[in-house]
Amino acid sequence: MKTRSLLIAMVIGAAVVFFAAGIYAATKVEDMVKIQDKGCEYTKGIVEFSHKKHSEDYAKKSPDLYKNKCGTCHHDDKGKPLVDIAAGQEVKRCIECHKKCGEPPKGKDAPKLSDKEKLEYVAQAFHVNCRDCHKAFNKANKTKAAPTTCTKCHPKTK
Ligand code: HEC
Ligand code: HEC
Ligand code: HEC
Ligand code: HEC
Repeated sequence: MKTRSLLIAMVIGAAVVFFAAGIYAATKVEDMVKIQDKGCEYTKGIVEFSHKKHSEDYAKKSPDLYKNKCGTCHHDDKGKPLVDIAAGQEVKRCIECHKKCGEPPKGKDAPKLSDKEKLEYVAQAFHVNCRDCHKAFNKANKTKAAPTTCTKCHPKTK
């Protein structure tokens, strides 16, 4: 009896993993991506990310910031850059590994988290990825073209 229910649990577990991968991984991407994950709640305006411009135009303009090509933003489960993503290869959404919704808890009662623990929050992973490059780009080009203020990425909702 025990082994049987264990077996059933394993089959269900495998099905869940398979199904989740089916939901989250895609081989294609829109030119403009709404960065929004099912099951998360949003307090800020939803970010619209120009994937095509970022992975083509900006990469051409700033090859030094894009040494890892697609892997500048996409990496594997060890954090190793996915430099060349083959046609048809599945790319996981960030939340598949940076699993917690939103930003790390803030305020005086919030637990002290290490950088690694903060990165479990998907908004932290996004903020670090977006901001580090934007800061570096603006500094190198003496510009403000790459946005670093909240409302430039999060449109005001009202
Ligand atoms: C500047 C950062 C950046 C670069 C460079 C980049 N991407 Fe992306 N990509 C993203 C972000 C952000 C998403 C949205 C992920 C999410 O919402 O979890 C995404 C999503 C995707 C998705 C869809 C994943 C899904 O399940 O919806 C695919 C496919 C993809 N990228 C392929 C590529 C390929 C191929 C390249 C190289 C030619 C590339 N990306 C370069 C940031 C980038
Ligand atoms: C397959 C799992 C996986 C996916 C998908 C994934 N990450 Fe990560 N990410 C990791 C791991 C593992 C690390 C390393 C964590 C560590 O060193 O503690 C990491 C580290 C990071 C870091 C820190 C890098 C640094 O230099 O410190 C950022 C920022 C980040 N990820 C952003 C993203 C973004 C944005 C996406 C989606 C475009 C994404 N990740 C998708 C697993 C993943
Ligand atoms: C590797 C570098 C890099 C990364 C990573 C990156 N950006 Fe950018 N982004 C740029 C550059 C360069 C520009 C400005 C280009 C110009 O106008 O000259 C820019 C401009 C923008 C703009 C204004 C113009 C437009 O295309 O809409 C927005 C909004 C933006 N980025 C959002 C994001 C978000 C959101 C993320 C994280 C998910 C992100 N970026 C990650 C390089 C990057
Ligand atoms: C370079 C673009 C960028 C900038 C600048 C930026 N964010 Fe974000 N932020 C994102 C992305 C991408 C996400 C993850 C997806 C989402 O929430 O739409 C995110 C997520 C969040 C979330 C969690 C989701 C939610 O709506 O509750 C909060 C809170 C947040 N950001 C607050 C801020 C604040 C406050 C600032 C200014 C100090 C800021 N962000 C600046 C890109 C940016």
